[in-house]
Amino acid sequence: MIRIENVVKRFPGGQEALSGLNLSVDKGEMVFVTGHSGAGKSTLLRLIALIERPTSGQVIVDGQNTGRVSRRRIPAYRRQIGMVFQDHKLLYDRPVFDNVALPLIISGAQHRDAARKVRAALDQVGLLKKEKQKPETLSSGEQQRVGIARAIVSKPKLLIADEPTGNLDPDLSLEVMRIFRRFNEVGVTLLIASHDIALIDQLGCRRIALENGTVQVEEEEDVVAEYAERLEHKGQQESWR
Ligand SMILES: Nc1ncnc2c1ncn2[C@@H]1O[C@H](COP(=O)(O)OP(=O)(O)O)[C@@H](O)[C@H]1O
Ligand SMILES: [Mg+2]
Repeated sequence: MIRIENVVKRFPGGQEALSGLNLSVDKGEMVFVTGHSGAGKSTLLRLIALIERPTSGQVIVDGQNTGRVSRRRIPAYRRQIGMVFQDHKLLYDRPVFDNVALPLIISGAQHRDAARKVRAALDQVGLLKKEKQKPETLSSGEQQRVGIARAIVSKPKLLIADEPTGNLDPDLSLEVMRIFRRFNEVGVTLLIASHDIALIDQLGCRRIALENGTVQVEEEEDVVAEYAERLEHKGQQESWR
């Protein structure tokens, strides 16, 4: 679903966010991108969303080489990808329903068809009863779920999320991840940037660690240390039961 080949992204100031990145994500996978602040996670997601273009290298999404997507075709390209951000970028003067309907309205959907899709999306994130409320009357977890409903309302095959639980406490974070997992179970491919390792380990998904703009090569001792950490984490989980 995603293939990143030798991607370099250098910004005009000379800052290199990605330095020869290679990775791939298969159809139907749910994968996390981890790494310290500044590792290049957001840049990677922005290249996939065609918010940025690489300096060199290839970004191939669902068989399309994004380098060949012209500026005019970017909106159509983006419609196949659901995007979730840490700050939900909701319209605060509009009810939940309108926020979720936005991508459908932009793509010219019929009102009745749109209403059905909006309600289906709200149902999937457990917010069907809140469609008339303004986002500011919702909790931060609920607001994030509105953002997720909006991202999936057009039934994208691929969902990318940039630190979607960055502002949420652990319980709400797990709830959001469970929603993502349910999408994954019905075939959506997910690529999620997060540095919440404990949460990711609970989900047992593949993890790609970035460091200074490339995939981190794990040293043997790191692998052993991580294994020990996981065992300890597992022990803690079991003692909570
Ligand atoms: N628009 C930009 N202009 C200049 N430098 C940028 C820009 N966006 C990101 N960077 C730099 O690229 C590096 C990677 O950033 P980013 O992809 O946001 O990392 P992460 O999301 O992992 O924290 C950082 O050093 C950051 O300062
Ligand atoms: Mg980031």
